[in-house]
Amino acid sequence: MTDTAFWHPFAAMGAVRDAEFVVARGQDVWLWDEAGRRYLDATASLWCVNVGHGRAEIAEAVAAQMRELATYQTFGDFASRPVLELTSRLAGLAPMPGAKVFLGSGGGDAVDTAAKIAREYFARVGRPERTVLVSRTNAYHGTHGFGTALGGIVPNRVAGPFVPDVVQVAWDDPEALEAEIQRVGPERVAAFFCEPVIGAGGVLPPPPGYVERVRDICTRHGVLLVVDSVICGFGRLGDWFGVDRFGIEPDLVTFAKGVTSGYLPLAGVLAHGRIAAPFFERGAAPFRHGATYAGHPTVAAAALANLDILEGEGLLKRAEELEGPMYAALRTLADHPLVAEVRGGTGVLGAIELDAERLAARPGLVGAVGLAARERGVLVRPMISAIAFSPPLTLAEEHLDLMTDAVRGALDTFR
Ligand SMILES: Cc1ncc(COP(=O)(O)O)c(C=O)c1O
Repeated sequence: MTDTAFWHPFAAMGAVRDAEFVVARGQDVWLWDEAGRRYLDATASLWCVNVGHGRAEIAEAVAAQMRELATYQTFGDFASRPVLELTSRLAGLAPMPGAKVFLGSGGGDAVDTAAKIAREYFARVGRPERTVLVSRTNAYHGTHGFGTALGGIVPNRVAGPFVPDVVQVAWDDPEALEAEIQRVGPERVAAFFCEPVIGAGGVLPPPPGYVERVRDICTRHGVLLVVDSVICGFGRLGDWFGVDRFGIEPDLVTFAKGVTSGYLPLAGVLAHGRIAAPFFERGAAPFRHGATYAGHPTVAAAALANLDILEGEGLLKRAEELEGPMYAALRTLADHPLVAEVRGGTGVLGAIELDAERLAARPGLVGAVGLAARERGVLVRPMISAIAFSPPLTLAEEHLDLMTDAVRGALDTFR
């Protein structure tokens, strides 16, 4: 029995310290553990391996870049060719005109960056009193400083006191946003953070018209709409940044995960040209924010190779085609006595909510069902009261039965 030195994120280390699940290898939608057992990766790691595992093209692009220039910083006027190519390509795909791209290493730091850009934008246009950030119940925006404060998953709200001037509204009611902006005073509000589909908070697609309506409310009050597409981007909702189906133009977009399909850590913020303008004007003071790996050439090379795959194989279209069949497959679990609700139908994302009484009677049930599914060869993601599904976009329809059969078997063990 080993006692690990590795402190796992989001883990009860007392249980995990001598019971780790060691993943050894991946190919497309499959993973193997060290004993050689195969699993269907129905979560694409943490909602991110959109192109599937084992892509030699990405490995080769990374190796080639490492041989040329593995790393260099980008503070001040420094840049590298892959970073310039990537940011220009992302700006071209952005759902807003004149987009500028700020880079980081993970979704949590992209959220911190977006929060600071929003406040600093208002400071630069002579409205420094606009500091309040609004988020939604059940939201997940990572575990950095701003993201922890913005988060709406109650058990995650640890290690306060939090960043001040952050308020929260009901996740599903645009009028709650309107009322909160009125309560705080529109002249005090900087930004509203919104996941197109709430991911880690339970896979909660927005009520019809919600995203369009909050866009309208933000516009009317001069509040910046920050779309957090860390999960929803790069094909997960069938488009580049998770907003096309709503027909809205965000002010800021945070992205991560699918931009490299998780092969290397990359994240960033797209800023509307209008929001970036006070930072890009001749004579504008530097924005004193950014990290050592903001604009890492090797990571950018991985992203470019990943974008080539997403485009070359038409994976956004494939995601669009998988959305309906995946939701239909998950709905076959709706009759199970442990299942209270099946959610999905907006992107290659889904969840089954477990019955509240069963959950109350057996704390740890969600994790136990997840483990039982793993024993049946399928990796799913246990959340607070639900099990999530977010497979690679390369998943074939024939794999859907395998996924639901394993989960039904897992649920049956707790009938
Ligand atoms: C919507 C959203 N924002 C931010 C994050 C944080 O990203 P990271 O874990 O890369 O810091 C996540 C992670 O799942 C997320 O789902």
